[in-house]
Amino acid sequence: MQPSADVNQRIARISAHLNPPNLQMEEGSELRRANCRAKGGSPGFKVAILGAAGGIGQPLAMLVKMNPLVSVLHLYDVVNTPGVTADISHMDTGAVVRGFLGQQQLEDALTGMDLVIIPASGPRKPGMTRDDLFNSNAGIVKTLCEGIAKCCPKAIVNLISNPVNSTVPIAAEVFKKAGTYDPTRLMGVTMLDVVRANTFVAEVLGLDPREVDVPVVGGHAGFTILPLLSQICPQFIQVKPSCSFTPQETEYLTARIQNGGREVVEAKAGAVSATLSMMHACEP
Ligand SMILES: NC(=O)c1ccc[n+]([C@@H]2O[C@H](COP(=O)([O-])OP(=O)(O)OC[C@H]3O[C@@H](n4cnc5c(N)ncnc54)[C@H](O)[C@@H]3O)[C@@H](O)[C@H]2O)c1
Repeated sequence: MQPSADVNQRIARISAHLNPPNLQMEEGSELRRANCRAKGGSPGFKVAILGAAGGIGQPLAMLVKMNPLVSVLHLYDVVNTPGVTADISHMDTGAVVRGFLGQQQLEDALTGMDLVIIPASGPRKPGMTRDDLFNSNAGIVKTLCEGIAKCCPKAIVNLISNPVNSTVPIAAEVFKKAGTYDPTRLMGVTMLDVVRANTFVAEVLGLDPREVDVPVVGGHAGFTILPLLSQICPQFIQVKPSCSFTPQETEYLTARIQNGGREVVEAKAGAVSATLSMMHACEP
């Protein structure tokens, strides 16, 4: 018996999920609804996570899969992406999830993406600073960014991989060399410093952290993290009209905010980095 047209269509849809068409963007082409979702459903952003099987990558993949603005989620890593992809793809949210394993699949993972988030990294062990990660991560970030310049040159790039103070300039140089550099589309992710500052300051002031908003400027390593403790604006003015700190409080808070990453890595005995608070920092 011949399968009906309906059945043929369903089989074609399933096959499109598992083996996506080549979405290589042509010069000047834009995000097209037809490419957003193999099922032809909701339009939305196409997001790739590079380093998706890691401590940051996995919960980040879950959060992105929960985001209704996302229609396609590509998970790339050099290990374990089939398992992570199978797991995340069972969530009954809109985004179509596809996994990519190893460098030979990097270009497929990147082609047509609107947003690329990079937590790919060698591991950070206790006693290692973010700068010690430079040796492994400089090369990783360079290779990944070369792929981005080739396959999705207009994508927004969020760099999580440490040392962020160095990986962002590396990415910028790769994009400049490729002629695709746009400073408004390349970002280092440092929101975790703000999250920590809000929490630690709230502890000292006896406030709910949600009522505190500490501006943090500078970089994302040690003394380059600059919490502007004199510029804090409690969101609910009536709770605390003004806040000032003693020199000892300022010293304690500054040191704790600057060394928050080390506090977590040491407490977790190097098994994983600051992952869960980081996920909170990444949440929209
Ligand atoms: N920016 C921040 O606020 C912030 C916060 C926490 C951690 N970090 C940094 O994020 C990075 C990731 O942390 P983690 O805990 O997830 O580490 P992890 O070791 O658990 O995961 C890293 C993942 O990257 C993968 N990887 C390695 N080489 C790769 C390559 N060439 N291409 C693709 N993937 C590759 C690994 O296989 C692994 O799955 C680290 O550099 C860490 O220091 C940044």
